[in-house]
Amino acid sequence: MHGGGRQVVADPILETRDLNKSFGAVQVLHDVSISVYPGQVTALVGDNGAGKSTFVKCIAGINSIDSGEVRWQGKPVTVHDPREAAALGIEFVYQDLALADNLTITQNMYLGREIRRGGFLVNGEMERKAREVLTGLSVRTVSSVRQLVASLSGGQRQTVAIAKAVLWNSKVVFLDEPTAALGVAQTRQVLDLVRRLADNGLGVVLISHNMNDVMEVADRVVALYLGRVAAEVSRSDTSVTQIVELITTGRSGDIGLSRATASESI
Ligand SMILES: Nc1ncnc2c1ncn2[C@@H]1O[C@H](COP(=O)(O)OP(=O)(O)O)[C@@H](O)[C@H]1O
Ligand SMILES: [Mg+2]
Repeated sequence: MHGGGRQVVADPILETRDLNKSFGAVQVLHDVSISVYPGQVTALVGDNGAGKSTFVKCIAGINSIDSGEVRWQGKPVTVHDPREAAALGIEFVYQDLALADNLTITQNMYLGREIRRGGFLVNGEMERKAREVLTGLSVRTVSSVRQLVASLSGGQRQTVAIAKAVLWNSKVVFLDEPTAALGVAQTRQVLDLVRRLADNGLGVVLISHNMNDVMEVADRVVALYLGRVAAEVSRSDTSVTQIVELITTGRSGDIGLSRATASESI
């Protein structure tokens, strides 16, 4: 990026180029090119139906892609399912979390990827590592990794899901509306954790339509408008009003989609 500037910007770890996706006759994503940088929180914002979740599912391999490219560490990749994404180092945390209530925190963090030796589960080692990750993320609200997930609050559940991504040495984490169902204090915890992930060098993609969340933790903001990237801006150069305008009309002053493109999308 900014070749001549003073600021050193790392290469994107994950990129899409001109990604297109239709469901039947309805085109949901139009030439979507988005970059994710290590150590940064990229907020992906957009109105309901803008295509945010569809975009995430294209990266996860849950949705197939009609055309365009996904690039990982500079090279084109094809991801067929979330397992393949995880093998690259990409994890996904959804609003409706896939955690099992009847299992402990440790069991959830290792679900499907348990450590075994001679056919036996190595519980002590898994518990120790789960504890290490939670401590490393300064998570102090969870008393024991043997606690059942059923007994956790919404914020703690998000925390466990995020810690799971860290446990598996992910390099990029997608969080789709992680605070949507949370109260003020729990939102605070999750946002702190999101920031810490980026400070630890991960590329974080935060999908949200909560402007407070975005202004608080994002480094960059990408606005999707009816399936098109309306603008990509640095958070520190942007106001809430501007982001809201980009979300609702695809334009704000001299940034965003041209009038013709914005109206053509409708
Ligand atoms: N599996 C699907 N089949 C048909 N249409 C879909 C499917 N998934 C999403 N869509 C449509 O794609 C559009 C974008 O949805 P979505 O990506 O969920 O938006 P967002 O997450 O930004 O609210 C919506 O019009 C939605 O109805
Ligand atoms: Mg969505």
